[in-house]
Amino acid sequence: MERSLIILKPDAVQRGLIGPILTRIEQRGLRIVGMKLIQIDEALARRHYAVHEGKPFFDSLISYITSGPVLVLVVTGANVIEIVRSMVGATNPVKAAPGTIRGDFALEIGRNLIHASDSPENGEMEVNLFFRAEELVDMRRSADQWIYE
Ligand code: RTP
Ligand code: MG
Repeated sequence: MERSLIILKPDAVQRGLIGPILTRIEQRGLRIVGMKLIQIDEALARRHYAVHEGKPFFDSLISYITSGPVLVLVVTGANVIEIVRSMVGATNPVKAAPGTIRGDFALEIGRNLIHASDSPENGEMEVNLFFRAEELVDMRRSADQWIYE
């Protein structure tokens, strides 16, 4: 069972795209086990994006992700990392396929709306960075039998 941390970035919140993006996540059948609206501070942003420290876009990335409230959520299930990354689309919206979130709603790499964990290991790290265990639910969904064989 994998876990993916998803962040609807400040531009998604400001543009009123929480609903449309959550709709896609729900309609796909993904199981949401945690969700909260927060403002990421600089320390948390630097830890979350530590792998990008020193790159030319790092400072603007930190100011972007801390610039307003974000919705963070945790989805869990088999293969969720790959499933969510494919729904999100390429990092640069110019290259993102139509039908993906970035391909349908975004135009520039510095305003690409959404983050999703890129490996099961990073998913675990990021979930633990943003959520305490008691903030996550252990949900038994009756629909699961119609979504998973
Ligand atoms: P994310 O971590 O936000 O889900 O995005 P990603 O995996 O698709 O892309 P990543 O390489 O991890 O980059 C993190 C975020 O940094 C910004 N970025 N800007 N100007 C640039 O060349 C550049 N490259 C990356 C984007 O906001 C990207 O989502
Ligand atoms: Mg990334």
